[in-house]
Amino acid sequence: MSSRPAFGAIQVVTPGRSYDIVIGRGALGDAASWQGLPRASQALIVTNDTVGPIYASALQAALAPHYADVSLLSLPDGEAHKDWQTLNLIFDHLLSRACDRKTVLFALGGGVIGDMTGFAAACYMRGVPFVQVPTTLLAQVDSSVGGKTAINHPRGKNMVGAFYQPERVICDLATLDSLPAREVAAGLAEIVKYGPIADAEFLDWIEHNIDALLARDAAALLHAVGRSCEIKAWVVGQDEREAGLRAILNFGHTFGHAIEAGLGYGHWLHGEAVACGMLMASDLSARLGLVPGAFVDRMRRLLQRCALPTQAPPIGIDHFVDLMRVDKKAEGGEIRFVVIESVGRAGVRPAPDALVRQVIADHSAPARA
Ligand code: NAD
Ligand code: GLY
Repeated sequence: MSSRPAFGAIQVVTPGRSYDIVIGRGALGDAASWQGLPRASQALIVTNDTVGPIYASALQAALAPHYADVSLLSLPDGEAHKDWQTLNLIFDHLLSRACDRKTVLFALGGGVIGDMTGFAAACYMRGVPFVQVPTTLLAQVDSSVGGKTAINHPRGKNMVGAFYQPERVICDLATLDSLPAREVAAGLAEIVKYGPIADAEFLDWIEHNIDALLARDAAALLHAVGRSCEIKAWVVGQDEREAGLRAILNFGHTFGHAIEAGLGYGHWLHGEAVACGMLMASDLSARLGLVPGAFVDRMRRLLQRCALPTQAPPIGIDHFVDLMRVDKKAEGGEIRFVVIESVGRAGVRPAPDALVRQVIADHSAPARA
């Protein structure tokens, strides 16, 4: 395993903003993490009813030396609340406290809080600064980095949002201690994703270290979060607005989003849907003749070791396909898939309808009688 300092910092460089991802156990309580952020009289911590009681006081203490007024807003927990109504609670809070356009927002929580707080920051007074303080594995390796912010629409996942980069991302690996095992597995799905799309050696490393990752071994987590963020920073640095390359980060997501929307948000975790979607996209890649069938078995074995689902729920093939048409990669109604061209390299392309339907049929649980 490559050695990494306890407090690494990875730079994300985009045309509009460059910022650091700070990673380490105890980053929340380290004064250095909070130096040099935009100055303002007011700061707002947006969190939820699960994370707030555990970590908000530590964040309030860390911010107190820098902002005269640090207020806290706790939103209801869950993907089902990633909507207009809940987003509006952030604007209500900001306006009720007469927060000005320098106010800094801090997103303390998983991807749902990060995406909603980022979107609120992009919109409030046409844009205020925000900082990501991700507390799930999934948010630390993916959603907090790269500036995609959004809420869901009943017709499609993350359909209303903005590209808006944070001022900094602060990943305290100690916050993962309180994360339920199912959420750790969901985060591992997004870590696994980086191997097939960008780094074959990293996929080997994950396979060799999967038990250590599941046991939340500190060194293994540091390497996995660090390498995932390096890859994401590299991709986002080349294609912030997803004109091309960035779409590879959506490996498994076209199938996965259909599962999430088909079941209703909040039934399967996002990472679980992505895991199943990656297996389906791997199979599609094999059926297109890009990778051998052995790669599909390899992905299935790894995902199963993480206790991630590898069989889609019985959504019905026509409905599944309709849901995939709402994907943001679709062009002129044509669904486009992230496929693995060789292990460590991905591409985006359409696929014959019959092949896609076969993949859905072969990877779905039978409908209940
Ligand atoms: P989440 O935000 O719902 O968090 C999962 C659960 O863990 C929640 O119940 C949360 O309250 C709880 N939790 C968070 N931190 C905890 C901690 N330290 N200890 C105990 N419990 C904790 O889900 P998620 O998996 O973090 O994020 C999924 C969301 O991220 C989805 O909405 C997805 O669309 C989005 N996402 C966005 C991007 C992006 O680029 N913006 C990328 C991937 C996913
Ligand atoms: N999670 C996909 C992206 O950030 O582009």
